Amino acid sequence: MCGIIGITGQAAAVDGVVSGLRRLEYRGYDSAGVVTTDPKGLRLVKRAGKLDNLTAALEGQPLSASTALGHTRWATHGEPNDRNAHPHLDPSGRVAIVHNGIIENYQTLKAELGDVRFASETDSEVVAHLIAEELAAPAPATAPATATAAERAMSTAEAGTPDLLAAVRAVVARLEGAYALCVVAADDPETLVVAKHEAPLILAQADGVGYCASDVAALIEHTNEVAALLDGQLARITPDGVEVVDVDGAPATPHAYTVDWDLAAAEKQGYDHFMLKEIHEQPQAVADTLLDRLNAPAPGLPPRLQLDELRIDEGEFSRIDKVFILACGTSLHAGMVGKLAIEHWAGIPVDVEVASEFRYRDPIVDPHTLVIAISQSGETIDTIAGAAHARDQRAPVIALTNVVGSTLARDADGVLYTHAGPEVAVASTKAFTTQIVGCLLLGLYLGQARGRVYSSEVADILERFDRVPDALREVLALDGQLRELAQRYHDVDSTMFIGRHAGLPIAMEGALKLKEISYLHAEAFPAGEMKHGPIALIEPGSLVVALAPAGHVFGKMVSNIQEVRARGASVLAIGTAGSTAALVEHADDVLTLPEPPHELAGPVLSVVPLQLFSYHVATLRGEDVDQPRNLAKTVTVE
Ligand code: G6P
Repeated sequence: MCGIIGITGQAAAVDGVVSGLRRLEYRGYDSAGVVTTDPKGLRLVKRAGKLDNLTAALEGQPLSASTALGHTRWATHGEPNDRNAHPHLDPSGRVAIVHNGIIENYQTLKAELGDVRFASETDSEVVAHLIAEELAAPAPATAPATATAAERAMSTAEAGTPDLLAAVRAVVARLEGAYALCVVAADDPETLVVAKHEAPLILAQADGVGYCASDVAALIEHTNEVAALLDGQLARITPDGVEVVDVDGAPATPHAYTVDWDLAAAEKQGYDHFMLKEIHEQPQAVADTLLDRLNAPAPGLPPRLQLDELRIDEGEFSRIDKVFILACGTSLHAGMVGKLAIEHWAGIPVDVEVASEFRYRDPIVDPHTLVIAISQSGETIDTIAGAAHARDQRAPVIALTNVVGSTLARDADGVLYTHAGPEVAVASTKAFTTQIVGCLLLGLYLGQARGRVYSSEVADILERFDRVPDALREVLALDGQLRELAQRYHDVDSTMFIGRHAGLPIAMEGALKLKEISYLHAEAFPAGEMKHGPIALIEPGSLVVALAPAGHVFGKMVSNIQEVRARGASVLAIGTAGSTAALVEHADDVLTLPEPPHELAGPVLSVVPLQLFSYHVATLRGEDVDQPRNLAKTVTVE
């Protein structure tokens, strides 16, 4: 979704802004723009398409200033063209804004402005007009005791002197919807004013330069000491410092934290694409998720699985009688493995639900319901809102996320971090495998807390999990085979992925990966459901990818494979050392994975060939692997 970066107090601020926008490209966008300030006015350049279009335009009209504001737009209202790109100006060209989110009442606000011409079709532009209107309004000399918040805000400025922060405060009080806003004005050229409601916004100050950004990736080259603005907060950022206030103008404190990764982690490091790099980082990422989880609570006592970040006393879990897992996209598939783990080890019923559906129905949630909200970014609006919906009903919420200090992590009662390092490619890979590991840890932990899994079993299972990184390295060594398979199949019209039990979430994830980055039609089904409809689509030339590891559903998978093959499909079977001998006669191609050290860890291994297959198919088809069309990494609008 939209990316924002603002810089004030740095020579050649535009270069810094463009560099920050490059680091935000991964979020997904379709146009970009930048504005600079100086007392003579604002200077604006914006272009549809990739950032290179903007930088080419900037070469033709270089902007030199020490304050600049940039934006990458993921279109919601109005097509992605130059006009609709951000920043947006007020009609006098004295105020510029960038916005991430959706202003839901923009039509009402436009109507309130009367007969005014708008330059774009966006919901955002009206905010620039409203701020300019506020700045033009005469300010009261002093605020009477009975003053409204907006009047008091105005009084903080010298009488008669327009105050940008006060004007923005007055305007955000009228906005409905979600926003991370950054505002600059020609009359206050060294100031950035920001406001946040339900969309992330980060502040930083380093070496006499003030920054704001939609996420830390844009700031990491400058500092790793940042602060997340909280909902309802606004800030004035100047080269001299940052002032944070709440909607009433009272001083407020944002959430300050240290980013635990550095610039090198956010670079491609010799790989052709971030996605390929992140696929290959999975052994280390999984090892980091598992690091230091088994500890003796006191000398002489048997070691226990300890999830210190959870911040919830282990005893609390004995009262839980139901679990909801909420997530979107890839994270939802990790949640499906989480259901298997929790039901298996903890014996608690689990519902896995698309977060955007959960929040708009009446789920039966009470203080005995545990909600696990999974989101790699911790900023997906539906997951955040779903978790808030549950908390309103006093259900404890655990966030399973990769991003320290993210909104989901801050709002939750407890948090389990996956420690996967930054994930830049839109298509999630290492975040997914580490989410699965996080789910396995949570399942085991709940089982331990409820006395259903003995310490010795916990230790044995964790010892098995510790072998997963090496098994992942073996799977990654199959890359050459996967490239050949991609060569053979990269032109098929349609692919179906089928699986059962722990293979089903991976079939779903495999189909999602393929469609996300190669734009090939791909669907996934529980293998047993094929006969209830989807098998009608099978014809000669169809490709079916079947997850068929050794295990209790292997025999059933073989039957389902035979059924599709009998109807002309080519079958690519993903087996394990214990199953492939039996698969060879039923499939056109068989890939042999190592036997997983635990059946429930199987998905961590079996998704990797599907990631690599999708990657190679997409590159063979010449697609933009890291930034697929229409998709965004962090979905901050509903
Ligand atoms: C977007 C991304 C997916 C991701 C989903 C949920 O659609 O492109 O890769 O799985 O959002 O994101 P989250 O950050 O909540 O895991």
